[in-house]
Amino acid sequence: MERVKLGCGFGSPVLMVVVLAVVLMTVVVPEVSATRWTVGAHMGWTTNVNYTIWAKDKHFYNGDWLFFVYDRNQMNVLEVNKTDYESCNSDHPLHNWTRGAGRDVVPLNVTRNYYFISGKGFCYGGMKVAVHVENPPPPPTAAPLNEKSGSPSFNLRGQYVLPAILATGALWDAFVHFW
Ligand SMILES: *[C@@H]1O[C@H](CO)[C@@H](O)[C@H](O)[C@H]1NC(C)=O
Ligand SMILES: *[C@@H]1O[C@H](CO)[C@@H](O)[C@H](O)[C@H]1NC(C)=O
Ligand SMILES: *[C@@H]1O[C@H](CO)[C@@H](O)[C@H](O)[C@H]1NC(C)=O
Ligand SMILES: *[C@@H]1O[C@H](CO)[C@@H](O)[C@H](O)[C@H]1NC(C)=O
Repeated sequence: MERVKLGCGFGSPVLMVVVLAVVLMTVVVPEVSATRWTVGAHMGWTTNVNYTIWAKDKHFYNGDWLFFVYDRNQMNVLEVNKTDYESCNSDHPLHNWTRGAGRDVVPLNVTRNYYFISGKGFCYGGMKVAVHVENPPPPPTAAPLNEKSGSPSFNLRGQYVLPAILATGALWDAFVHFW
């Protein structure tokens, strides 16, 4: 019965695709505003990179991620406190982010300073990075021409994406059953 209805009128697959596209557009906007930073950019997490310079001109916002790409046989990713960052002490990390593949993602989900070093002696050669995580800036107040500002979800960040996706699923379900 439902299958017959799907083929014509308001239940047509084309309309569904359009509706889904519209819903997805409002969902995708917040996702792109959170950033996954590859530490050291194309150099990755390695020796001979000055990560102070890498981090200097960047703004890290709550909801962003750091992505460490490195030689899993040599280096690692340890979160430490300020003292241990400065002294390259890897004896009591706050968090060991090393997962074994040489590709570790670290969520920056608290507004504070984060300190990371590589153990195994590499910190002494400069494999250390400190980032200051701040709250995302408020949405632009006077930007009538910015079409994004019309969307209520503009300033939402990564943590809202999952609920939004679930909501999309529920909408989709409701839509299919309604028609
Ligand atoms: C960092 O941890 C070490 C060892 O646990 C401690 O001695 C030091 O005071 C801590 N530093 C800060 C800034 O919390
Ligand atoms: C960090 O965790 C990895 C994977 O569990 C482990 O192999 C490694 O020994 C740990 N390193 C430190 C310094 O705790
Ligand atoms: C931040 O992320 C870590 C690791 O996923 C998690 O353990 C922690 O509960 C999160 N903190 C907040 C405030 O969301
Ligand atoms: C990285 O660059 C900063 C700023 O130029 C400098 O102060 C610092 O000593 C450098 N760090 C290393 C490990 O070379």
